[in-house]
Amino acid sequence: MTEPNSMHSEMARYWNENGGQRWTANLDRVERMLQPLAEALLGFVAPAAGEAILDVGCGGGPTSAAFANAVGPEGRVVGLDISAVILEQARQRFGYLANLQFVQDDAGSMGFEPASFDVITSRFGVMFFPDPVGAFSNLKTALKPGGRLRFICWRELKLNPWMGVPVQAAFEVLPRPAPSAPNAPGPFAFADQAHLRQVLETAGWREIAIDSHEAMLNLGTLDDAIAQMTRMGPAAAPYEEATPALQARVADGLRTAFVPFERDGNIQLMSTTWLVSAGA
Ligand SMILES: C[S@@+](CC[C@H](N)C(=O)[O-])C[C@H]1O[C@@H](n2cnc3c(N)ncnc32)[C@H](O)[C@@H]1O
Repeated sequence: MTEPNSMHSEMARYWNENGGQRWTANLDRVERMLQPLAEALLGFVAPAAGEAILDVGCGGGPTSAAFANAVGPEGRVVGLDISAVILEQARQRFGYLANLQFVQDDAGSMGFEPASFDVITSRFGVMFFPDPVGAFSNLKTALKPGGRLRFICWRELKLNPWMGVPVQAAFEVLPRPAPSAPNAPGPFAFADQAHLRQVLETAGWREIAIDSHEAMLNLGTLDDAIAQMTRMGPAAAPYEEATPALQARVADGLRTAFVPFERDGNIQLMSTTWLVSAGA
């Protein structure tokens, strides 16, 4: 079994090396694809002018920037991320916003100024904690009395054909990796609602509400969709290691799988997420 400490450094290394490079290389594609979920989160958080917001695992910073615009000059936003390479992109893109600060640290262990945020939020940045109960306990220390936790995370793969369709096609050609343990850190760590609720309850959160949300995602042109799904996600590593002939077969398989979902020149596939809300 992997020790928690080594899992912490493994995760930090992943996001600072391969994972971070893959994320930044695909930032524009991913950003276009996730735009409807940024809007859903913004509506769910409903930031008020003057609020202080912590955006956990902020990545390239698009949600942090949207929150910074919403809270206005009297408010402030901290975009927190463990990855230096990803934050470099965030600073290049949104460094001009005076009320937005990007901080590199681990949300699970960072020493927050107690009770300093009205809102703790995240778009897909809280599912990678090796010790989720410890991390959510730590995050709670940063929330002001009466403050709110509001985040979005993925439901299970079979409810997310935007990923399930290409993954199925890619692994008809590529060697399939061993399945990960249930609830293991990763994009689908909180797919199981009962597990998610238990993590938050054990970490001391109250008034927990978990609601399903469906949205169509735009993966761009056929070529964009193939590029994204071979360069990030579960197929990225085996694709990188495959021979050119095998890579060409993967691309053909993805093309065939995506074509039925082409609408107006773009590949459009459904997503299902949890919108999660809690108080301290
Ligand atoms: C799937 S990406 C989402 C990025 C961004 N929120 C978005 O929606 O575009 C996950 C992000 O969480 C960050 N991350 C992972 N573990 C973290 C941790 N323990 N503390 C802070 N950030 C973390 C990664 O570096 C990465 O940028």
